Amino acid sequence: MINFENERFHLRNKFFSYVLEISRGKHLLHRYWGKSLREFRDSAPLQKIDRGFSGQLKDFENERTYSLDVLPQEYPVRGHTDFRIPAYSVELENGTNISELNYSSYKIFDGKPILKGLPASFGECQTLEIELVDAAKNFTVFLNYTIFEDVPILARSAKFLNTGGKKIKIQSAASAAIDFSDNDFEIINLYGGHAAERTIQRQKISRGIFEISSARGASSHQHSPFIALARPDATEFFGEVYAASLIYSGSFSAKVEAEQFGTTRLVVGLNPEVFSWTLEPQEEFQTPEVILNYSSSGLNGMSQAFHKFYREHLIRGKFKNQIRPILINNWEATYFDFNEEKIISLADCAKDLGLELLVLDDGWFGKRNDDNSSLGDWFVNTEKLPRGLKGLADEVHKRELKFGIWVEPEMTNFDSELYRAHPDWILHVPDYQPSCGRHQLVLDLSRADVREYILDAMRKIFSSAPIDYVKWDMNRHMTESFSAKLPAERQPETQHRYILGLYEIMEKLTAEFPDILFESCSGGGGRFDAGILYYMPQTWTSDNTDAVCRLSIQAGTGLAFPIISQGAHVSVTPNHQVGRVTPLQMRTFVAMAGTFGYELDITKMSDAEKSEVRNYVELYKEIRPTIQLGKFTRLLTGGNEYAWQFSDDKKIIVMYFKILSKPAEPIRILKLAGLDAEKLYTLKKYLPPKKLSVDGGPQKISFEEKSFYGDELMNFGIAVEKIETDFAAYMWIFEK
Ligand code: GLA
Repeated sequence: MINFENERFHLRNKFFSYVLEISRGKHLLHRYWGKSLREFRDSAPLQKIDRGFSGQLKDFENERTYSLDVLPQEYPVRGHTDFRIPAYSVELENGTNISELNYSSYKIFDGKPILKGLPASFGECQTLEIELVDAAKNFTVFLNYTIFEDVPILARSAKFLNTGGKKIKIQSAASAAIDFSDNDFEIINLYGGHAAERTIQRQKISRGIFEISSARGASSHQHSPFIALARPDATEFFGEVYAASLIYSGSFSAKVEAEQFGTTRLVVGLNPEVFSWTLEPQEEFQTPEVILNYSSSGLNGMSQAFHKFYREHLIRGKFKNQIRPILINNWEATYFDFNEEKIISLADCAKDLGLELLVLDDGWFGKRNDDNSSLGDWFVNTEKLPRGLKGLADEVHKRELKFGIWVEPEMTNFDSELYRAHPDWILHVPDYQPSCGRHQLVLDLSRADVREYILDAMRKIFSSAPIDYVKWDMNRHMTESFSAKLPAERQPETQHRYILGLYEIMEKLTAEFPDILFESCSGGGGRFDAGILYYMPQTWTSDNTDAVCRLSIQAGTGLAFPIISQGAHVSVTPNHQVGRVTPLQMRTFVAMAGTFGYELDITKMSDAEKSEVRNYVELYKEIRPTIQLGKFTRLLTGGNEYAWQFSDDKKIIVMYFKILSKPAEPIRILKLAGLDAEKLYTLKKYLPPKKLSVDGGPQKISFEEKSFYGDELMNFGIAVEKIETDFAAYMWIFEK
């Protein structure tokens, strides 16, 4: 619902209200974002105070209490008395980047406009479009606000239009800015590195500017394009949280400024460090969309809203709300050292274990026997696969498994036919050496000829064999972000043009191959963002497959992204990334909390292990709809223990993990959440960890009853049986 009255726009659904105000016929102010209000009558009017060193525009010279430096704004400009972070900056030919944005008009309509060339949310919704004009510079900014009925979410973006006759240069253009009237917040963000993605960080806001960003040309392992401002008393279940998640896969920035008068400004969008854009007369520039999420029920409320929103209003195509196949990937099983026979032996074993999809990872093309060569040479290595992809796919299909392949289309190597033929197709600056990462070079996707080459190569591969799944990788970040095709003034556009080029390729391929399930990857989760999810409904969460590390990686990822989008595999012990030995049950349960699969040489498992795996696979098939399509709740996060609940109308699944066993610890009781108080829930399965010691295995906890009312499970909880073992993983399955 959006209405306009008394110079105020009130966007409202049952979860939240968002209020904007036109002040003095000119300035667009932010007035309220929080719990849903039946009506906004301004019970706390803006207090106009004459603040020292906060100046006035000439029109307000005699009104010393009216300063942009003090007013809460919606899309703040620099240079006219507001000294806080601006939402945008535009340079004119005369060199100035001072501008002034004044309210001009508005439109309210059903649905939302398409964001040309960019991924964006969709669905039943209503949009407010506000037009702001800089009359002196001849440009217009359109701010878009879209509200959906079924979620506490507001989607925002901005569009620039050059209405004059001269070029203008956009130096920065945020997707949204928000001014909060206080600074009683803690900042939550997700930081990390390769194989250590999305670690949750929570810290008190402090005076100054806090920024998370990526200038790497990918959303990155290092910082996720997600940020939240939580009230200090906000927990998993209670309290207010304001979060922003950018639908974009390239360099981004999110800044939080706690300023002199105790207010807070949040600015989220493209990273101005590696971006500027020249707008010719009558041209438009569209920013990516940012998803603003208000929760009055703590961090779980926030995550559940993101999950629902991305599943319903962002992920597209056939696999949108479809349970995902259990896969076997040969990467950690064989790395580059495989042939057809080996892969078929994995397929035979996978079939026997009940798996559903075989994925042939890196190394099947060109002369690629290690990571030194052949990216870009998209023809089958017939020494490894004498009957080609088709021959192998047919064999795999004969075993009633689906067949998938790995590709890394955005890259090349010095040692490749592609690079030898087209050395100027990579991002590079003339006269400088191009840098490499993992021996590879980034193809310049801002170029149409490069995009055509990639499209053509992928079309040929995808139609050369019955391919059901594609893992699309991107294994280094951008350096020398310079394009041989762009003029000097447009060089700072290269990174953004690359991402637009990537989206164009993905749009075409996903439309042309609607039956292929795409999984995105970037050295694991280096490009796990809402932009990619629009095209590819799942992402390989991390190259780190150690169950202990995965607890924190998946907990962090789940803060913003749905369970069904997170690839998670069981791997061998000692683990290849950290050398840890963990029991199969823990590795399995952790991987089950995502799109489940195996990534080890299953042919080498003992008969006992194989029979355990058969049981787990059967179990996962039974609980998969609840895990992948149900509601996810964190009951405990971090430290030595994690507890996760998955629920739908039929089942409640609870997983509990304890990393290290410690003496003299209290008995842990887990209070379940969000159940129907009056309904009976019957415990159908209880799977405690096995003791590592030899004295007879676990003692099953004995319940007097097997069925409990929801209120008891939520308020009294379930006791975790104390079993002395490290790396303990438990599961309870209740049926309603
Ligand atoms: C990346 C991926 C891995 C694997 C390798 C292959 O690191 O994250 O899963 O596909 O590339 O080279």
